[in-house]
Amino acid sequence: MARSEYILLDDVHRTYQEAGRSHAVLKGLSLAMNSGEIIALLGRSGSGKSTLLNVISGIDKPDQGQVVVNGIDLTALSERELTLFRREHIGFIYQFFNLIPTLTARENIALVLELNGYSPTAVREISQTMLAAVDLSQAADRFPDRMSGGEQQRVAIARALAHSPGLVLADELTGTLDAETGQLVLKLLQKLVSDQGGTLLLVTHSLAVAKTADRVLTLEDGQLAEQEGSFAW
Ligand SMILES: Nc1ncnc2c1ncn2[C@@H]1O[C@H](COP(=O)(O)OP(=O)(O)O)[C@@H](O)[C@H]1O
Ligand SMILES: [Mg+2]
Repeated sequence: MARSEYILLDDVHRTYQEAGRSHAVLKGLSLAMNSGEIIALLGRSGSGKSTLLNVISGIDKPDQGQVVVNGIDLTALSERELTLFRREHIGFIYQFFNLIPTLTARENIALVLELNGYSPTAVREISQTMLAAVDLSQAADRFPDRMSGGEQQRVAIARALAHSPGLVLADELTGTLDAETGQLVLKLLQKLVSDQGGTLLLVTHSLAVAKTADRVLTLEDGQLAEQEGSFAW
């Protein structure tokens, strides 16, 4: 079966103004990512990894170049359309969890479903299923400040995947976890995304994690470079 391209970036430029000086972060970056693919993205701090995820999810706009996700040209969308696009197609897992502190684990997961217009029954059932999938059924009614880092991260994963998004973006999600917990969380994420037939772009510093991806890309000097399979870790 032919695989379709889920992400197509062409000649993307993004420059920030800092203290009156311009700082080019993405410099003619291109990327083609297939539907169902898992890509690990490496790059030193400040190389533009988060900027790239923000451009792909429409949170940030490129100064120049094309951004097409699931056949939709993001540069042509209004802010309102971008919000709806993100809500439907993207699951975003932030580096620092970003759970809503006043909502329980269950409510954090339910929110995105409610915003997407799911029926109350569907919201209840899917929230339950996702909590079970990340092994947190017993923590459903707990607030984020009563959960460990690993537990919060699993809630963040459940929340990002609840509406079965075509594309999951994960930004250094194990940065604050110990190595062993980080490995478990990443394995779980990869399994859940694969089960849903989703596409995963994962920022990581872990070579062990990168090894399990279909492809490994490095962001360097504003562009992406591919690591070949024979690369010795
Ligand atoms: N909103 C912004 N305004 C100004 N500079 C920014 C902004 N976002 C990121 N940058 C700068 O862009 C560069 C890349 O940042 P980032 O994408 O966060 O890198 P990474 O995620 O790889 O660490 C950094 O030098 C950062 O300071
Ligand atoms: Mg970052």
